[in-house]
Amino acid sequence: MNNPDTLSQSNPQPLVLIKDLCRSFKMGKQTVKVLNGINLTLHRQEMVSIVGASGAGKSTLLHIMGTLDRPTSGQVLFEGKNLFKASETTLAKFRNRFIGFVFQFHHLLPEFTALENTYLPALIQKTPKSQAIQSATDLLTEVGLSHRLHHKPGELSGGEQQRVAVARALIRNPVLVLADEPTGNLDTHTGDDLFALLRKLNASHGTAFVIVTHNEKLSHQTDRLIHLQDGHIIDDRCLSASRVTESSEHPEDEKGGLHLDEAPPL
Ligand SMILES: Nc1ncnc2c1ncn2[C@@H]1O[C@H](COP(=O)(O)OP(=O)(O)OP(=O)(O)O)[C@@H](O)[C@H]1O
Ligand SMILES: [Mg+2]
Repeated sequence: MNNPDTLSQSNPQPLVLIKDLCRSFKMGKQTVKVLNGINLTLHRQEMVSIVGASGAGKSTLLHIMGTLDRPTSGQVLFEGKNLFKASETTLAKFRNRFIGFVFQFHHLLPEFTALENTYLPALIQKTPKSQAIQSATDLLTEVGLSHRLHHKPGELSGGEQQRVAVARALIRNPVLVLADEPTGNLDTHTGDDLFALLRKLNASHGTAFVIVTHNEKLSHQTDRLIHLQDGHIIDDRCLSASRVTESSEHPEDEKGGLHLDEAPPL
């Protein structure tokens, strides 16, 4: 899919650069150190999994990458820019425009159909309704739900609900999708299918994915596997040399970086 609004060839900076990131929480008189000096570079179109024991800091890291939470110290640069210097309003606008989220529980609105749940974020972004409906229909077709457009979440299976959540995450053409245990609530077979879908969307849309998962088998299907332990990265390995070949199916102009100029001034 072409995404000329957000992608360009021009910016040589990595999509996300994390330097010495620490996050701690004050609990009464105690300080709980959750992330302890994370250094990480995320490239465009990468599909990365993050694994680690419960409490290792995976969700905390994902929330900061998604600008839902702020670092205690250290830097997170999006194409070289420190968005955390911006106001909450600016940060929210940036997040809505450039980042998609998929959670363990789909968080779909029960009163709305699959189609409405998918296109609502585009409407909020002031996309004309007819265009939003068309994009949502295309995405739901791509995730295999063209026959379920008018079903409400309660009339969909767990796997179908999660596929709607994936379509919703992609409706604004984000450059980065952050998924926290997207298969955690699904049976093995449905989880495998969802993961295969994420892989396909990563290739077809050129969207970068960071996926937190407890599923070791699935984590090995990404390009890169990061292992977090007690707030430290203890392993960060490339799993796939084939990405260059895979992404070469895209025209050159689809592969650039964020046009942060589009985001509100910082
Ligand atoms: N707002 C908070 N206040 C205090 N402590 C917190 C807060 N958020 C997270 N923590 C603590 O930080 C640690 C890491 O939490 P996090 O949710 O990032 O873990 P996780 O790796 O995602 O675990 P899981 O696999 O169980 O989801 C936990 O020990 C948690 O209790
Ligand atoms: Mg978590």
